[in-house]
Amino acid sequence: MNGEHVIEVKSLRKSFGPTKVVDGIGFNVEKGDVFGFLGPNGAGKTTTMRMMLGLVYPDEGSVTINGYNIAKDFLNAIRGVGAIVETPRFYPYLTGRQNLLQIANLHPRLPGSRIDEVLDMVGLTGRAANRVGTYSLGMKQRLGIARALLNHPSVVFLDEPTNGLDPQGMKEIREMISQLALEQDITFFISTHLLHEVEQICNKVTILNKGRLIARGTVKELLGKDNELVEISTPDAGKALEILTGIGYVKSVKPGLGGLEVELERGRSAELNGLLVSHSVMVNYLVPKNQSLEQFFIELTEGGHQVA
Ligand SMILES: Nc1ncnc2c1ncn2[C@@H]1O[C@H](COP(=O)(O)OP(=O)(O)OP(=O)(O)O)[C@@H](O)[C@H]1O
Ligand SMILES: [Mg+2]
Repeated sequence: MNGEHVIEVKSLRKSFGPTKVVDGIGFNVEKGDVFGFLGPNGAGKTTTMRMMLGLVYPDEGSVTINGYNIAKDFLNAIRGVGAIVETPRFYPYLTGRQNLLQIANLHPRLPGSRIDEVLDMVGLTGRAANRVGTYSLGMKQRLGIARALLNHPSVVFLDEPTNGLDPQGMKEIREMISQLALEQDITFFISTHLLHEVEQICNKVTILNKGRLIARGTVKELLGKDNELVEISTPDAGKALEILTGIGYVKSVKPGLGGLEVELERGRSAELNGLLVSHSVMVNYLVPKNQSLEQFFIELTEGGHQVA
């Protein structure tokens, strides 16, 4: 991370008919970022990504990738880019490898061995000879990422990469993205409507709502990554509250569903559990509580947080 801007977006606007879908947004993505583009359904994420990739003309504004303007110098701008916008599509009757070969053939200088490399990076080597029609959603998503990686991109755009996947599938894709960012030195631009996803894999976040940016910053400063929220189910809530009051690493305690909701320093939950049990407080379960995007929006608004 050396502060170099891989992507620069300035004053982007787009309307469809009378509706302002993207209403004057700007931000920079630095080399090495795993950049979260967070917003609820209909916020304008996909439209923004389409404009960034030259798939839709903006009404106003500019995008540069690796220093090249996407409108004026498309081929240079797109050269170092890999992308999946919305759901990746494949020929179902061809195998995973054959599908990649179709694309690889469009890049005359790409050696055949690159297909094996990208299949390996996304963990699909064992299934590459099977028809894509037999793949699970998570495997299709992996194959989509493999395809996006074929031309050795320095920056990869993924539009809601875990959409529609079950929790295990989500976990695997997220781990894969983190690993690729680290090992392959790839900058990621990832759209999502899941706050939790941003917390898990992104270092930066920009939040879009109704076509406008409402907050941006590092994930740490914006999402308070120093603390975490856990839900404790206990029949002894009153006693637990007494014990937890005044404990240094406990930031706040409030009554929750069937127990307590506790905000504490990240990584101290085992200690918390031990403390309660040592005081003979029965704990049915203690689980991390994922804040919803809606709750987070309310807190941001209440805090008077605004993006200039
Ligand atoms: N080609 C189009 N013509 C008309 N309206 C469009 C078009 N593309 C997008 N929209 C509208 O623009 C708004 C933003 O859509 P967009 O797909 O960019 O949002 P999104 O943040 O990606 O949402 P989601 O999380 O549902 O994918 C929506 O109200 C959508 O209906
Ligand atoms: Mg979308």
